[in-house]
Amino acid sequence: VNGGALVGRAVLASLGERARAVVEADASKALVLADRRLPPGLRRAAVASLRRARFSVFVQPVSGGEGIKSLAAVERLARVMAAHRHGRNDPVVALGGGSVTDLAGFVSAAYHRGTPWVACPTTLLAMVDASIGGKTGVNLTLGRGGLVLKNALGAFHQPILVLADLAALDSLPERQFRAGLAECLKHGLIGSAGGDRGLWGWTLANLPRVLERRPAPLAALIRRNIAVKERVVSRDEHERDETGGRALLNLGHTFAHAIEALAGRGGGERIAHGEAVGLGLIAAARCAGRLGIAPAGIETEVRRALAACGLPTMLRRLPPTERVIAAMRHDKKARGGGLRLVLPTGGGRAAVVEGVPVRAAAAGVDSLRPV
Ligand SMILES: NC(=O)c1ccc[n+]([C@@H]2O[C@H](COP(=O)([O-])OP(=O)(O)OC[C@H]3O[C@@H](n4cnc5c(N)ncnc54)[C@H](O)[C@@H]3O)[C@@H](O)[C@H]2O)c1
Repeated sequence: VNGGALVGRAVLASLGERARAVVEADASKALVLADRRLPPGLRRAAVASLRRARFSVFVQPVSGGEGIKSLAAVERLARVMAAHRHGRNDPVVALGGGSVTDLAGFVSAAYHRGTPWVACPTTLLAMVDASIGGKTGVNLTLGRGGLVLKNALGAFHQPILVLADLAALDSLPERQFRAGLAECLKHGLIGSAGGDRGLWGWTLANLPRVLERRPAPLAALIRRNIAVKERVVSRDEHERDETGGRALLNLGHTFAHAIEALAGRGGGERIAHGEAVGLGLIAAARCAGRLGIAPAGIETEVRRALAACGLPTMLRRLPPTERVIAAMRHDKKARGGGLRLVLPTGGGRAAVVEGVPVRAAAAGVDSLRPV
C-alpha cells in the first residue's frame, strides 16, 4: 500500500487529502461504494473530505453481506462506473465491511485492467484482515441455490490507502464485532510467523477491555493485527510459497469456507464469516492434535479463547461430516487426493500440511458437534 494503513478515530476526515497525495495527477472522480447500514455521518465525512480534495464524488449505496460478492454485482458496478466515465486513474473508495472491500477491490482490479482503490473498512474483521494484503474477489455459485465457492473469482490488487476509522465501530452490531475477533485469534495463533509472538497472550489479557471497545486497546489490537498480516503477506504477496508464507493466513479456513458454504442451505444455521473462521480454528486444532503436530491442549486453549470472545464453539445443525469434507475438497487450497490444510503447530506457528488423511480432517469437523 503506497499510502499506508492508518488507524484512529476520525481518520476519514483526511481521506481526500491522503488519496490526493497518492493518485495520479489527472484523477478527478471518486466512486464511493458505501454500505447502507452505516450511520450517514460516516459517509458524509468521507464524501466531504473527497470533495475538499477536488474529487467529483459519486456515491453508490450497497447492502453489505456475502450476497454482494457476486459477478452480477461486479457487472452492475462496472456499468455505473462506465456511465460516469470513471477514468482509469480515478479511485474507487470502499466504505464497508469485508464484503464491500472484496467487491470494490475486485471491480477496481478488472475495470480498465486496474484502477486505484482505497479501503475504508468499517467492521473489525475488515480492519484487521479483509482490507489488508490486496486479496480481492467474489463468490461463484454452482447451479441455482447450489454450493457457493468462496472467492472463486479474484485478483491480487493492493489498495493505494487503508483508513480504519474507529468511529465506524460505534454502530457495529455486537455479533459482527465478535466475529472480527476470530480473525484476531487466528493472527495470534500465527503471531510468531508475523513477528509478534506475544500477540496471542496480549489479546487474551486485553479481551475484557477490547470487548468494551475501549479506544486504546482496540486501536492497539487493530494495529498489531495489521502488522502481523502485513509482515506475512510481504514475504509472499501472491501466495506462491506452497510450504508456508501467505498461505499461513488461511489457518482453519478450509474448514471455515466449507461450513460457510453449507450453512444457510438446507435449513442450516446462518453464520457470519468470522464465526465460521473461529469454528475452523477449533477444527484445525483438533486435526493437528490427531496428527500429533501440535502440543496437547491446543484445542482446549483455542476453544477457551473463542468462548471468551463470545464466539460459537460448536454448530448444532452441522451437516453430515462427509458433506463437509466434500465441500472442503472444492477449496482453492485443495490438491489431489488427501486434503491440504493449514494447521496450528503451537508457539504462534502454523504449517501447510499436505495429504491430510480424511479421518483426521473428519475428526476436526466432528469436534464442532455438540457433545
Ligand atoms: N480479502 C481478504 O483478504 C479477506 C480476509 C478476510 C475476510 N474476507 C472477506 O470478508 C467478508 C466478511 O467481512 P465482514 O465480516 O466485514 O462482513 P460484511 O461486509 O458482510 O459486514 C457484516 C455486516 O455488518 C454490516 N456493517 C458493516 N459495517 C458496519 C458498521 N460500521 N455499522 C453497522 N453495520 C455494519 C454489513 O452491512 C453486514 O451486514 C467475507 O466475505 C470474507 O470472505 C476477505
